[in-house]
Amino acid sequence: MLNETKEILVIGASGKTGRRLVRRLRGAGERVRAASRSGEVRFDWTQPTTWLRAVAGASAVYLIAPADPAAANDFVSQAVQSGVGRFVALSGRGIDKIDQDFSPSMVGAEQAVRDSGVEWTIIRANNFNQNFDEDLWHQPLIDGRLALPMGATPEPFVDAQDIADVAAALLTENGHHGQVYDLSGPHALTFAEAVTTIAKAAGRSVQYVELTPEQYRTELLAEGYSADDATALNAMFAGMRAGYLAQPTDAVRRILGRDPIDFDTYVARAATAGAWQ
Ligand SMILES: NC(=O)c1ccc[n+]([C@@H]2O[C@H](COP(=O)([O-])OP(=O)(O)OC[C@H]3O[C@@H](n4cnc5c(N)ncnc54)[C@H](OP(=O)(O)O)[C@@H]3O)[C@@H](O)[C@H]2O)c1
Repeated sequence: MLNETKEILVIGASGKTGRRLVRRLRGAGERVRAASRSGEVRFDWTQPTTWLRAVAGASAVYLIAPADPAAANDFVSQAVQSGVGRFVALSGRGIDKIDQDFSPSMVGAEQAVRDSGVEWTIIRANNFNQNFDEDLWHQPLIDGRLALPMGATPEPFVDAQDIADVAAALLTENGHHGQVYDLSGPHALTFAEAVTTIAKAAGRSVQYVELTPEQYRTELLAEGYSADDATALNAMFAGMRAGYLAQPTDAVRRILGRDPIDFDTYVARAATAGAWQ
């Protein structure tokens, strides 16, 4: 049982999942430290001097992976010494099957919490809905062309709000120690279908273009992505094309007792908020 008078440290608190998690936890009356480089609590993975102050007094931590896997290990050790008794780490679905090029950082963060000697739970999420309005695929949609090497394999995109709600439950409820949860949305759809849905709701003309992995790499490099990022993204799409992430899971329903948010609901809300205007 965690000391309920203590605080929860949310790393990446200004990001897609962290922002929603902070709101959810505070809404439930939890005491939260919202941490990032620019956040209420200053925390920088590249500056270990910021770690201890951020974590001192916290009993539980929401961990999103640092670029450097060694940093996750060092931070987790410090956090445990400082009294943290529970970690919830965000990772990617299929990480155990996809080529290691995909994300050494998430592999490292998973290992760090598994080795922590205290309670840990890992969330392995499908691609987020919010990648279409807050991240990687937003600008291409605005530009009218989303081009990916995905083929016809469907993806059960998961909503960042569902990840936040699940993380809040795992951080505050008992019974999840040592669990790895694959989190998806309720239905799988192709990227072509996702683009059609968004284009219709946004009232824009957007084209989905199928690329070969080589063409995708060339486009990423031309857009300014690093060679490592291009390799990682191609590894991710290879795993997705292979179908490792394609089946919807029931984890959101099992943990929260409600259905996950479906893609149409996400699109309607984001379009109303002006995401693609
Ligand atoms: N997007 C997906 O579909 C997907 C699916 C599965 C897993 N994931 C994993 O989810 C994680 C990202 O989570 P997210 O999408 O919620 O976050 P996000 O939207 O990518 O935001 C990143 C957060 O990290 C903070 N940050 C960036 N650099 C930092 C540094 N050097 N030190 C401390 N904080 C730093 C940022 O805030 P500041 O700029 O203020 O520091 C921000 O709060 C990644 O590990 C990703 O691989 C993503």
